[in-house]
Amino acid sequence: MTILPPLRIGKHIAPYPIIQGGMGIRISAANLASAVANAGGMGIISAVGLGLNSPYFKKHKLFEANRLALIDEIEKARHLSPEGILGVNAMVAVRDYETLVRTSAESGINLIISGAGIPLKLPEYTANYPDVALVPIISSLRAVRIICRKWEKLYNRLPDAFVVENPNRAGGHLGAKSHELGNPALNSEQVIPDLVKYLHSEVGEDIPVIAAGGIWERRDIDRVLSLGAKGVQIGTRFITTEECDADRRYKEFHLQASPEDIIIAPSPVGMPGRVIRNALAEKAMQRVAGVPPVVATASRQRSLVLPI
Ligand SMILES: Cc1cc2nc3c(=O)[nH]c(=O)nc-3n(C[C@H](O)[C@H](O)[C@H](O)COP(=O)(O)O)c2cc1C
Repeated sequence: MTILPPLRIGKHIAPYPIIQGGMGIRISAANLASAVANAGGMGIISAVGLGLNSPYFKKHKLFEANRLALIDEIEKARHLSPEGILGVNAMVAVRDYETLVRTSAESGINLIISGAGIPLKLPEYTANYPDVALVPIISSLRAVRIICRKWEKLYNRLPDAFVVENPNRAGGHLGAKSHELGNPALNSEQVIPDLVKYLHSEVGEDIPVIAAGGIWERRDIDRVLSLGAKGVQIGTRFITTEECDADRRYKEFHLQASPEDIIIAPSPVGMPGRVIRNALAEKAMQRVAGVPPVVATASRQRSLVLPI
């Protein structure tokens, strides 16, 4: 087996081409992100809702609590991984997006990964921090075209990488409407080669493409690298590790899940999400008629070992 190549995003180089996907709320915080960064990947804190179960929530309004808790989380991660590559995932769809992005850049984060919407103003919010790499998450070529054109025109810069999330396989929020799920045109096999070709031929830049969604083991990584991706973003597989910030019961819930338990449910930001069936998801589904369950794989990994 060959050694995996390093991954360069902007000025930051990780020994392994593995990004741990940001997972809210507090599924990926300082512990998981720093552990992945120390293991040679890129560790990502999800900025969403960090204030909710922080000490700040009692004294401040939610957005201020989120901001203060994010600063703490970044400081803690940097303390645990002084040399590692650490990023923040901020979702465009949340109302305190701009504050969370600005706070991340000011707090010394290396990269910002941003999806759940098109991050048109991301370069503006980080303008004073040119070393912070900016990485939009997209599911289609259409979004890439819009981002490249707008960023070049308004800010004279391009993204440092793109995460291509396959909505037919990924856990969490999905960048496709419910009725589009299952469409093979959204699969990595289709989107990644098209995107790589587009970036080379029309944008003329060597912008790395990162594949996300259903990446589980080394052969999945090899498969997407052979399609032209330069790295992978992995979420679900990290949930059941010791290092993951989630409550033990949440991890156990994943360990006990079987493929039939994986369903598509509407998320609070109005997008479909792939989740394990539970009471909250059932409630959300009752509001939406005809949502078919979609099968995926359940995580059974217990300690943090990068699938290299
Ligand atoms: C529990 C959970 C929470 C997530 N939270 C976020 C989030 O806050 N922001 C985001 O952009 N993506 C989020 N994601 C998506 C992940 O960052 C990643 O792209 C996705 O999990 C990749 O698919 P995989 O789970 O099949 O590896 C979440 C995923 C999971 C499973």
